[in-house]
Amino acid sequence: MLTATEQREVVELAREFAKEKIEPFAAEWDRTSHFPREVIDELGKLGFLGMTTPEEYDGMGLDTVTYLLALEEISAADAAIAVSIGIHNAIPTTMLVRHGTPAQKERWLRPMARGELLAGFALSEAEAGSDAASLRAQATRDGKEWVLNGAKAWATNAGTADLMMIMVRTDQPNARRGPKGISTFVVPTDTKGYKAAKPEDKMGLRASNTAGIELNDVRLPADHMLGDEGMGFVYAMEGLDAGRLGIGAQAVGIARRALEHSISYCAERKQFGKAIQDFQAVQFKLADMATRIEAARALSHRVAGRKDAGEDVTMFTSMVKLFASETAMWVTTQAIQLFGGYGYMRDFPVEKLFRDAKVTEIYEGTSEIQRVVIARALRHS
Ligand code: CAA
Repeated sequence: MLTATEQREVVELAREFAKEKIEPFAAEWDRTSHFPREVIDELGKLGFLGMTTPEEYDGMGLDTVTYLLALEEISAADAAIAVSIGIHNAIPTTMLVRHGTPAQKERWLRPMARGELLAGFALSEAEAGSDAASLRAQATRDGKEWVLNGAKAWATNAGTADLMMIMVRTDQPNARRGPKGISTFVVPTDTKGYKAAKPEDKMGLRASNTAGIELNDVRLPADHMLGDEGMGFVYAMEGLDAGRLGIGAQAVGIARRALEHSISYCAERKQFGKAIQDFQAVQFKLADMATRIEAARALSHRVAGRKDAGEDVTMFTSMVKLFASETAMWVTTQAIQLFGGYGYMRDFPVEKLFRDAKVTEIYEGTSEIQRVVIARALRHS
């Protein structure tokens, strides 16, 4: 657990970096869909690719609240950068910390935490989105090796990562075992047969790299399997429990920036002879925006505390993702309304925030899937 001073230092470092090295360039990266790997590398050197990694593996070993606060700062500058480092910190890192062998931790976790390797996660397929357990990419044992074939979809960092955690079936077509037939492999992206497709041309988060993956006879030694055979779906769900909290912080960062821009704009913009911030309709909108953001942040920090206390937080992380992402969408919609015609123009910052907010309701499980997870946990028997 960090002291309050240490926490403030980490968050200030993230805020200053975001203000100087990310925010001034974010609109250009968005326009050109440019993934600035050098910025990710700089963040890595400062420790931000090892935020959740224990110090014994060269990570910062941050408590979850500090991690979320740092991610919020990066996201307020550009959510595309936040998702690239958020996935790395939340999913592949969690998987290796929990299930990696000592050798796997030395080989991958330690350099990931030092920012020398960027990682991603590939679960979804064209026909397996919300129903993730129906995935079909296949690994077949061949002597001491596994051979992977199939295709993955919409994987963050797929074309820019150094290694990907990939979920594939290890049960055979004549003996399918549903979620129990899925395993996780650590796949260095320079392995023969791994091919990332052209990056997707997305509505928002345009600077993040999102791509499909082709796996054509990707041969891996057996020690590239993570944990136990058949446990990959459970590992993916555990990773998503951590990932969904990160998406919550990302959504809060987007919403906060939209509010900040709105407050400044409403002070400057004059209509009917006075600043529009003097109209009660505008004041009430700003008040509602600020209240919802505060509630989303408070919920996520409360759940972060429960996670660090070792509680089962699956249902709660879904609540965070659901509430924060719908807050970001609502707040950015209000921001565009406050900016009026200007809000609809690319020259002003809020339309990017609106586009970036939308995917937080979709990836790492749609809002509908979060409601399924919550409802299942609440159900009596
Ligand atoms: N932690 C640990 N284990 C878990 C778990 C969790 N959070 N959730 C489920 N499991 C276990 C279950 O206990 C069960 O094991 P047992 O049978 O031994 O009890 C096993 O996993 C199967 O669980 P379910 O029966 O609940 O599985 P399901 O097929 O009904 O699926 C689901 C449940 C919640 C709908 C799940 O499929 C899901 O979350 N879907 C959404 C997928 C998703 O978020 N995809 C996003 C991909 S990542 C991405 O967006 C790309 C990117 O790079 C950003």
